Amino acid sequence: MGNSLKRVAVLASGNGSNFEAIIQAVEEGRINCSVELVFSDKPDAYVLERAKNHKIPFTSFMIKDFSSKLEYEQELLKILKENQIDILILAGYMRLIGNELLDAFPQRIINIHPSLLPSFPGLHGIEDAFNYGVKYTGVTVHYVDSGIDTGKIINQAVVDIAPDDDLESLEAKIHQTEHIIYPDTLAKLINKGE
Ligand code: GAR
Repeated sequence: MGNSLKRVAVLASGNGSNFEAIIQAVEEGRINCSVELVFSDKPDAYVLERAKNHKIPFTSFMIKDFSSKLEYEQELLKILKENQIDILILAGYMRLIGNELLDAFPQRIINIHPSLLPSFPGLHGIEDAFNYGVKYTGVTVHYVDSGIDTGKIINQAVVDIAPDDDLESLEAKIHQTEHIIYPDTLAKLINKGE
């Protein structure tokens, strides 16, 4: 990808704690990129408040305001192009990425998922692992392809499920691990210019 400073957009649907961890790492100079934009498909997502606090431009619109997913992604792609975005970082973006974006960002869309893929893909990775009764789960950072959490794995971290864990304590452990592994992995990827 060359050595110029990478221009990043973060896509998120919710709280944005991973966005916060990433932006902190960027502000501390640990990830060599500039976060140009935050997009949310949920206009009331707290991640937008976080973007505002960090003085990062943000925008939001909902898929239901478009007649198709294609048109929704075309609008998003237009904005990403206007902002000359190189890399998309998904941080709790709870939607499948369609071909419009995949084709525009080959091997340039990165996601974090709260399980040890290929186990427990989908929207409820933490809960599904907890309910299954596995003793170890974790976090996966991966490239995004057209499947549900099926893209090439970049990094993983293990989180143990202790006998006294409940769903809430497990969620806390997973998020704690995410906030370390995601910035670290992005730093490794982006800083070496891949
Ligand atoms: C994170 O746990 C992330 O791994 C998960 O959503 C949460 C977002 O939290 N993503 C997925 O489940 C994607 N399939 P955050 O908004 O506080 O960063």
